Amino acid sequence: MQQPVKVLVTGANGQLATEIRELATAHHEMIFDFAGRDRLPVTDAEAIQRHFEAFQPDYCINCAAYTAVDKAEEPGESEIAERINAIAVGHLARACTIHGTKFIHISTDYVFDGTASAPYKPEDATHPLSVYGATKLKGEQLAREHTDAVVIRTAWVYSSFGKNFVKTMIRLMNERPAISVVNDQLGAPTYARDLARAILDIIAAPHWIPGTYHYTNEGVISWYDFAMAIKEHIHSACVVNPIPSEAYPTPAKRPAYSVLDTTSIKEAYGVRTPYWVSSLTECIKILTR
Ligand SMILES: NC(=O)c1ccc[n+]([C@@H]2O[C@H](COP(=O)([O-])OP(=O)(O)OC[C@H]3O[C@@H](n4cnc5c(N)ncnc54)[C@H](OP(=O)(O)O)[C@@H]3O)[C@@H](O)[C@H]2O)c1
Repeated sequence: MQQPVKVLVTGANGQLATEIRELATAHHEMIFDFAGRDRLPVTDAEAIQRHFEAFQPDYCINCAAYTAVDKAEEPGESEIAERINAIAVGHLARACTIHGTKFIHISTDYVFDGTASAPYKPEDATHPLSVYGATKLKGEQLAREHTDAVVIRTAWVYSSFGKNFVKTMIRLMNERPAISVVNDQLGAPTYARDLARAILDIIAAPHWIPGTYHYTNEGVISWYDFAMAIKEHIHSACVVNPIPSEAYPTPAKRPAYSVLDTTSIKEAYGVRTPYWVSSLTECIKILTR
């Protein structure tokens, strides 16, 4: 009989990790260790080494991250973001090399500046506009420097768990008669459950092809389009007004166009990237049941 595959998931209480946990019960061929910040602070290199020695994971999925994109621009925050999004990734990657663990690291569309007019391919030039994007880019580089990692850039992540655009929109639409949403930033949303499924498919695949990949749902929309779809799904009477980004200034600059080309992850691992509307429908069904 084949030995079960041991999978360590860091940042275990975040959106993506929680979705992996939801799917994990169906994977009897895998033993999971979901480690949150309390049990495995990824900024602590020694704690990581001890954890790897005890659990001896075959795979490590790094879901831990500093994701407060605007807060990262505040004084003193960039160092914290750098410790979690960059230096800690180096600690994890080194532990993976020492223990022969395959490393799956999650990154972001915010490594790009959004000046492209066609979907970004993994090998396209990066140029982050924000502290968050810059620290995530450093994290990717450290992951690749120390391991034969699979780095997956994703975008606009939402889930029935945690804080995200879909849940914020539902709350605001229930509270207010009208809201304004930017209509000049284009991208593709990602239902964290779809990404979680893709990651588990990569682990279950018969081959391991290291590299940088892109994963989002299919489609190209603006945040305004996304808000309108959410409004329709929940049958809200709230008026949604489209506005330009200048009318909603945020501390962190965001790419105007951050559509990611997902061809290579589909070719390498045969993962599915469902159309964004069907995934939104699935998530809202869970949120409103
Ligand atoms: N959310 C998005 O829209 C988006 C878009 C593109 C890419 N991504 C990337 O996708 C990945 C998953 O994101 P997500 O949406 O699941 O993020 P999330 O919900 O914010 O979860 C991140 C988790 O990391 C944990 N964490 C933070 N610092 C830690 C530390 N020092 N040690 C251990 N754990 C720590 C957090 O714990 P606490 O709860 O204790 O803070 C949180 O549970 C991240 O790499 C993120 O950069 C996200």
